[in-house]
Amino acid sequence: MSNAEIPEGLKELLQGFTVEVLRHRPPNLAEFAVQHFTRVLENQKNEQQDGTPSTTSAGKEGTFENVSDKSGENDEEEEEKETPRFTRNKPRRVAVCAEAYDPDDDADDNSEPQVVHPKTDEQRQRLQEACKDILLFKTLEKEQFSEVLDAMFEVLVKPQEHIIDQGDDGDNFYVIDRGVYDILVEKDGAGVCVGKYNNKGSFGELALMYNTPRAATIVATEEGALWGLDRATFHRLIVKNNAKKRRMYEAFIECVPLLKCLELSERMKIVDVLGARAFSDGERIIAQGEKADCFYIVESGEVKIMIKTKTKAGQQDNMEVEVARCSRGQYFGELALVTNKPRAASVYAVGNTKCLVIDIKAFERLLGPCMDIMKRNISQYEHQLVALFGSSDDLKH
Ligand code: CMP
Ligand code: CMP
Repeated sequence: MSNAEIPEGLKELLQGFTVEVLRHRPPNLAEFAVQHFTRVLENQKNEQQDGTPSTTSAGKEGTFENVSDKSGENDEEEEEKETPRFTRNKPRRVAVCAEAYDPDDDADDNSEPQVVHPKTDEQRQRLQEACKDILLFKTLEKEQFSEVLDAMFEVLVKPQEHIIDQGDDGDNFYVIDRGVYDILVEKDGAGVCVGKYNNKGSFGELALMYNTPRAATIVATEEGALWGLDRATFHRLIVKNNAKKRRMYEAFIECVPLLKCLELSERMKIVDVLGARAFSDGERIIAQGEKADCFYIVESGEVKIMIKTKTKAGQQDNMEVEVARCSRGQYFGELALVTNKPRAASVYAVGNTKCLVIDIKAFERLLGPCMDIMKRNISQYEHQLVALFGSSDDLKH
């Protein structure tokens, strides 16, 4: 067994299959395997017929692009690299077998040409402002971040315009410059609005990260502007960076008690979308009363939770009292997201502290299974407040 040779391509083939199984959770594994590998085989045959060199892998990037070639899209994509134009309404790509998601594969890292869309100073300033809080960019090195900014292109949108349609293949990732966008997910054949983006945030990362069909429809409700990042650049910079993130955070995430109830694949998806932030001693991380847009897990250091005290007449004064502390592996900032209320307390770093940050949309999508645990833990806050103030009215609003 020790000298058994692993055939070339086996790792990619099995990885591709495993990702698909985790994604679809098919009731019949054997049947699913037959369908999956039949598609892989068909793609390989297509590649060979086209005369394009067949990758030994199970439908990696090469396979996907080759299928696009057949519909004549490649010429268009060549053009795109020079002309900053929006290609959202291209004909649908042929749905092909998902490329194996292998963020560890560093091959061809530098073979993709760097995309640069020239921008005016005013555009660059707006772009930087729009991207400064995008968590997916937070763990990039400075140079990679600057490459991302170079590659982004402005997209002006009209009211009722569909930016993304559920079920399509992914072309671009989008960062919001301005505008309000509805998120619709199909239920029983009808689009149900499950949320909104209001003048900030980003969307369209899922299909590009996992090579899955678009998971939701995104519609502009008013005139707006977006910054697009093409699939190839997203893959080269963000997906590759995710491999690094997985290596850095996988072991830590395994030990976070809150996340124990998740499957391994769900925990990995959390790692893919999280950002990291460092705070210095005394720095305020959350301000009581503010609107919430993210949730935190302490990676190192400590934070203290402070609540404004009240006068005898029940008015808040500017004094704060410490109600709790959180250290490595513990979370905070979930309450406002669970209750849809403003932040119930302020949170400060105690010493140099690092936190992992998950944005509200990913929180809703990925942490659903942890909701019961979080709700149960909220009753502890009530006890703390009753002990300090004699009531927990602030949590009820
Ligand atoms: P993607 O699947 O590429 O395209 C649709 C995008 O909508 C998706 O990536 C996410 O970025 C975003 N989105 C926001 N909320 C949801 C949700 N509840 N389910 C799926 N996608 C969502
Ligand atoms: P959130 O209200 O989003 O922001 C402040 C966070 O402090 C809150 O979520 C909780 O995660 C955390 N917290 C810890 N103890 C308390 C408490 N007694 N009351 C309110 N928030 C608390």
